[in-house]
Amino acid sequence: MIDGKKVLFSGMQATGNLTLGNYLGALKNWVTLSEEYECFYSVVDMHSITVRQDPAVLRKRARNLLTLYIAAGIDPKKNCLYYQSHVSGHAELAWILNCFTYMGELNRMTQFKDKSAKHADNINAGLFTYPVLMAADILLYQADVVPVGIDQMQHLELTRNIAERFNNIYGDVFTVPEAYIGKVGAKIMSLQDPSKKMSKSDENPNGSIYLMDDPDTIMRKCKRAVTDSEGCIAYREEQPGIRNLIDIYSACTGKTPQETVAEFDGKGYGEFKPAVAEAVISVLKPLQDEFARLSKDKAYIDGIIKENAEKASYVSTKTLRKVQRKVGFPDRVR
Ligand code: TYM
Repeated sequence: MIDGKKVLFSGMQATGNLTLGNYLGALKNWVTLSEEYECFYSVVDMHSITVRQDPAVLRKRARNLLTLYIAAGIDPKKNCLYYQSHVSGHAELAWILNCFTYMGELNRMTQFKDKSAKHADNINAGLFTYPVLMAADILLYQADVVPVGIDQMQHLELTRNIAERFNNIYGDVFTVPEAYIGKVGAKIMSLQDPSKKMSKSDENPNGSIYLMDDPDTIMRKCKRAVTDSEGCIAYREEQPGIRNLIDIYSACTGKTPQETVAEFDGKGYGEFKPAVAEAVISVLKPLQDEFARLSKDKAYIDGIIKENAEKASYVSTKTLRKVQRKVGFPDRVR
């Protein structure tokens, strides 16, 4: 609890171009929850270097991502938006938690398996211990709730296990966090292959809608989306392409999938696909405009970066000192 409010932590990597999946599965919920909770939203740049990055590109993308958080509607005066690399406690706690995490647990992580297959020439130790850094991110702020898409659930389960293990040894040190998964949009699939999640790193650019795509591109990608020959708008597993488009439409309009199905009852894909595109455009266009406006205001963004890094450092140091004491590190001499 901070000032009587429950604490929320979440983060996003500044790697690749953000997709509609990142927005609907995470960012959109962050905005909604930002009024109710004391929120820490991090640009997790330390996670990004587990795969090789061009330094100038990473720096630029990290700044764009932080700006995007604000453009999406998160008030940076009321919520803490900051770069992970500006708060040294993340790395310090991650080291300690490494000593409370088993190799077997990390070996089971599907994201590690996927990424090692994709980057076979660079299976580094950071890629392996990535979930421990993620646990440190969350536990450092004593987060009660962590809004994420479904693909991060396994990492969140591990975080809970590490927290409980530590608490069992040393008493109630960490809050054990709960995941927050949105009702619709928690797993947006590729438009070209609805068995795969929509991903920043997809080689086929038509599979993903990027947050900065212009209206024509969005329309084209939606019209080309892979569907089936059933010809009816139904929300069922046998029609994964249509099901995904229903999810996208529903998440963008605030409707339930059932309401969307009712709205398009008796209509064909030729009518539904452009409607999905319009719904996406009406969500992304204001975001893009606000992003463009904010990007020009260097001094304002710099101010946010400075203030929020200080706040995040202050809050996280409290947990870190407690943990260091518990494991037996000597007290600092003042
Ligand atoms: P990242 O950067 O891959 O994704 C950011 C958020 O977007 C969600 N997401 C999706 N949701 C729905 N459909 C999709 N197709 C889709 N693709 C991505 C993700 O679930 C995530 O919520 N390891 C994390 C970043 C992280 C983090 C943390 C998150 C680091 N520390 C602490 C929460 C708490 C990651 O790589 O997310």
